[in-house]
Amino acid sequence: MNWTDSGGRDLADFAFSYAPAKIILGGEHAVVYGETALALAIDQGIRLGVTRSAQLDGPVLRSVGWSILGEVRPGPNGAGPKVLREALAKLVELMGSGVRELLFTVDTHLPFGCGLGSSAALSVALIRSIHRFWQLDLPPAKEQGLAFELERIFHGNPSGVDHTVISSGGMICYRKTHESSFIERVNPKQQLKFAVGLAGAHVGTSRAVTLLKERVRRHPDVYGGIFSSIGHVAREMKHCVEQEKLAGLGELMDVNQGFLNALGLSTPKIEALCSIARERGALGAKLTGAGCGGAVIALVDSDPQMIVDAFMAAGYSAFAVASENIL
Ligand code: MEV
Repeated sequence: MNWTDSGGRDLADFAFSYAPAKIILGGEHAVVYGETALALAIDQGIRLGVTRSAQLDGPVLRSVGWSILGEVRPGPNGAGPKVLREALAKLVELMGSGVRELLFTVDTHLPFGCGLGSSAALSVALIRSIHRFWQLDLPPAKEQGLAFELERIFHGNPSGVDHTVISSGGMICYRKTHESSFIERVNPKQQLKFAVGLAGAHVGTSRAVTLLKERVRRHPDVYGGIFSSIGHVAREMKHCVEQEKLAGLGELMDVNQGFLNALGLSTPKIEALCSIARERGALGAKLTGAGCGGAVIALVDSDPQMIVDAFMAAGYSAFAVASENIL
């Protein structure tokens, strides 16, 4: 039987993929310095459709969700944001010139560049869609290797936590040394629920990492102590998750936020969002991802909507998310 879409096109000419976004519960930035981070995939992400393009100077990337994206094309008649053009060019380099004939359509409500892993989700979704379209095997290690190459375009020299948790799904403890990376699956007994508030555009992950590196160079022992404390917090968080100690997890999120503030990664808007969340009964609140703007997550043990409403009443964009349900 041949499946067709509403326009009568043969669906064998299409492939679809999905990759979730992510939240870092604890350990962002410290993970760049070899410490543990605790990260989870969430119930929102990026859907991607791929088909053959009428133009041969692609690949072309279009969006039905991201108005900032417009149409992205890397070739000589290139269009769209530079980093996305470079990512598409890298995709051609990694997967061959056949990619030039492809048209990708992104469908998502995820805000771009706010610490929820939009670039890593896009990287994983692109790689998955091409492999499905060409009916190629994609073992997890290959997916993660290819996604890391794209993430390097987006973020310079990332730790790899974002694309790893997005590719693996669920929740993981992640640590990276010069030689290798260590991934330990974490098994939460319950779904975690969060209110997310957006504290404005962030400066970009690689910029935030670079600025912090300059501060670390000035006082390596001081910052080294903070990183190792953050690593400790992330490992304690894992125990709280496994033992269903949500109040303890929230408390540790507040501790982690204090350290992130000390590292110079918080802003008045981030602190305001954390205060609003705590006043309205959140178990804990912190920035997630690169900081200096971007998303604040507030952990709740009931309906997150009350805190989402409070964020919005204070003038912030906000929405609710939950851990990807893999139980
Ligand atoms: C960004 O989501 C997480 C950071 O720790 C950077 C990285 O791990 O590469 C800030």
